Amino acid sequence: MADRAIVGGDVIGTDDFTRFLICPVCSAPLTQVATTLRCPQTHSFDIAREGYINLLLAKRKQPATVGDTKEMLQARRRFLERGYYQPLLEIMCKQVCESLDNIPGGRVAALPDCVVEVGCGDGYYIGQVQHFLNNQLKPRHVCCFGVDISKEAVKQAVKRYPAAHFIVADVKRKLFFASGSVQVLLNIFAPRQATEFGRVLARRGRLLVVIPGPDHLSNLRANFNLIGIEDNKQQRVSAQLAEIFHLTGEQHLAYDLTLTGEALFDLIQMTPNYWHLSEDTRNRLSTIESVVTQASFTILQFSRS
Ligand SMILES: C[S@@+](CC[C@H](N)C(=O)[O-])C[C@H]1O[C@@H](n2cnc3c(N)ncnc32)[C@H](O)[C@@H]1O
Ligand SMILES: [Zn+2]
Repeated sequence: MADRAIVGGDVIGTDDFTRFLICPVCSAPLTQVATTLRCPQTHSFDIAREGYINLLLAKRKQPATVGDTKEMLQARRRFLERGYYQPLLEIMCKQVCESLDNIPGGRVAALPDCVVEVGCGDGYYIGQVQHFLNNQLKPRHVCCFGVDISKEAVKQAVKRYPAAHFIVADVKRKLFFASGSVQVLLNIFAPRQATEFGRVLARRGRLLVVIPGPDHLSNLRANFNLIGIEDNKQQRVSAQLAEIFHLTGEQHLAYDLTLTGEALFDLIQMTPNYWHLSEDTRNRLSTIESVVTQASFTILQFSRS
């Protein structure tokens, strides 16, 4: 969490991130009291020692293994930190900045803006977006939140990116942000929930969705029998969001990736292919020294209709 001052037992966040959050039980505003978040009806949610907030309701709390496993997360971290998807990260930083600048009159100057990534994994994108915005927009403050259903992912995220805020929650169910409080919503290879996306997004806010392009890693998919990309993915995503959003822009990014054998293994391990790898494929992968493939992404920009 960002810097905090303790005043009379209460912890006051210097960036007051709680102003964006609502109670998972009754939807009233949450405020921070010591190491908990509370609503006026005294529903209470702990801020973990590590600094993340768990807003999964006890009744609905998931088994420890929900979402990506520790091995998958470690593979993702190793792969991303080698910079293989850096071009995508740079586009996301730029688009978030442009989106914030494009909200005419939608910003109350005294309040910070809010950017949320749903299904943030280990925080690579939202953590670095926070860092970028802090440098780029000084002294204006933007509050970045990452939300993921995997507690393990969120634990890793908060440790690596302490300037951003991280929440454990099921984004398919509800987003615990106040209505209209989010200026930019990021959805990068993660689940979507159109109604909630529409509710939390500010009137002139922007939703940025990243999906793999049709030929993303295509030679690897063919050679190693990996899971394919669904046909017409872009049309399906637009249709899924169509009741509430319309497409306002799209950008395509493609470039060659030269991977070491280790990086290739990490790339496969950090995806659902992890669950389906045959012994034969594992053996073949272990003999590869390097391989060239194509990374291909589509970034879709949506506004509320
Ligand atoms: C493919 S990963 C992408 C992570 C991150 N956006 C990235 O690109 O590095 C998908 C993420 O969505 C999360 N996820 C899956 N279902 C979810 C749900 N119902 N609510 C919140 N997160 C979910 C997973 O735990 C996983 O971290
Ligand atoms: Zn409540």
